[in-house]
Amino acid sequence: MDNKEIYPVFDKMLSRSDKEELLGQKAVMIWFTGLSGSGKSTLSIALERELFARGYICRLLDGDNIRSGINKNLTFSPADRIENIRRIAEVSKLFVESGIVTMGAFISPTNDVRDLAKSIIGEENFIEVYVSTPISVCEDRDIKGLYKKAHSGELKEFTGVSSPFDEPMNPDISLDTSKREVAESVELLLQLVIPRIEKKR
Ligand code: ADX
Repeated sequence: MDNKEIYPVFDKMLSRSDKEELLGQKAVMIWFTGLSGSGKSTLSIALERELFARGYICRLLDGDNIRSGINKNLTFSPADRIENIRRIAEVSKLFVESGIVTMGAFISPTNDVRDLAKSIIGEENFIEVYVSTPISVCEDRDIKGLYKKAHSGELKEFTGVSSPFDEPMNPDISLDTSKREVAESVELLLQLVIPRIEKKR
């Protein structure tokens, strides 16, 4: 619903570039997509640490954390997954506009939902990382025991088992955590990300 009695004041506020200047970095959104158990959280946590060590301020948003806070009223129905990602994208945009290197680790299972995130945050700000670990590996890992529950029918609409996952069509990078060590994947991510966030002095 559009509220006609709202008067945004964005033009009077300090700008993103003022903040990027202060922080000595340029903001981007690094969006990790992939199945549950593929390694999104592991890679994003490791990447944040490496960027922090190089002097970059990041904010990592993660599915399990967001779903126990701001999105705790949402289910895993197709409509709620869209609303989950829409809210996350709006929040991410606030961080990006504050000059922060923002990372999201969400299954974000469909091309439509990833396109929605990209359109809210802005394509020019968006780096898409597909954590392409095969489902057989995710199922073997089954760190949270959710694949077992999904196969027994105890857990409905589970991504990759009873709810769809579309392979991203044009990610900036694909990383299979069953084929590469975490450190090697993080190195590739650093090579991709640093040129986008470094502030030339
Ligand atoms: S998304 O599909 O809406 O993008 P999101 O990344 O927020 O998913 O949350 C995924 C996490 O929720 C999984 O890592 C898993 O721990 C948990 N989860 C619980 N139920 C489901 C389900 N039906 N499908 C997928 N993940 C689930």
